[in-house]
Amino acid sequence: MTTSLSISDDTMQHQQRPWFTASKVQGAILVALVVLLVLVLAGPRPKVKSDLLSDCIQQPAAVASTKAAAVGGGALVEVGFYGESLCPDCQHMVRDVLQPLFDNKVATLMDLTYYAFGNVHNDSDGSYAYQHGAAEGKYNRYMLCAQELHPKQDDWFPFVKCLADNMRSLTSKADGCATSLGWDAGDISGCAEGDKGKEAEDRAAAATWALRPDKTFVPWILVNGVAIGGDFENLERYVCAAAPAASRPEACYQLPSSLQHMGRR
Ligand SMILES: *[C@@H]1O[C@H](CO)[C@@H](O)[C@H](O)[C@H]1NC(C)=O
Repeated sequence: MTTSLSISDDTMQHQQRPWFTASKVQGAILVALVVLLVLVLAGPRPKVKSDLLSDCIQQPAAVASTKAAAVGGGALVEVGFYGESLCPDCQHMVRDVLQPLFDNKVATLMDLTYYAFGNVHNDSDGSYAYQHGAAEGKYNRYMLCAQELHPKQDDWFPFVKCLADNMRSLTSKADGCATSLGWDAGDISGCAEGDKGKEAEDRAAAATWALRPDKTFVPWILVNGVAIGGDFENLERYVCAAAPAASRPEACYQLPSSLQHMGRR
């Protein structure tokens, strides 16, 4: 018994000693490799290399779908604008709230959709009854068709802005807004008066009537699906807050003067 135990102890010690020694050597090699790696990583790197690295990281975002990625690679903030062509407050929204976001680059964080429909009721004969008359429906469809035919917001928004600038004389100016952008005015009016315009309008109607909560006025603004009600003039703050920090333009870090003195006595 004792003999066999001592043999087995010897065997174990005999087997353990070289293994222990080998692990010591391996450990030393490992430590040396880690130190080498740290030195290499911490050392000065050529600028070209790091530029290439960041290009590789950013490129997949840049080539991704326009709906999926903002400048810095984060998700775009969905902005839904429910309005109508002939309402002065919607004109104000376009000219004084949205246009400045295109000017200061905050619009690069947004995926904007203009649901041009607004305060429309069902007529007894099943047609739409527009708040400001039939012309409102026509120019709502102009705006919807602009988005259909020129889906990038940088392309269609200037048309919507031009319509807002000429809100009181659209009969003579709307087609000129299209040609001033190099578009074929016939494409927009043809869409607005045809099936495509009607389909786009029906989709805007469905979206408008599905709002939760229901809108109580226009312009009615949703940020990532959430209504901001009477705070629509502060849209920029909501968009900046919802956007990934890395993609925010400088304007996000400047508080508009209208908000600077709130709460002070
Ligand atoms: C108009 O009719 C549609 C279809 O029946 C309905 O979904 C919608 O809620 C109605 N809208 C209004 C404002 O009554």
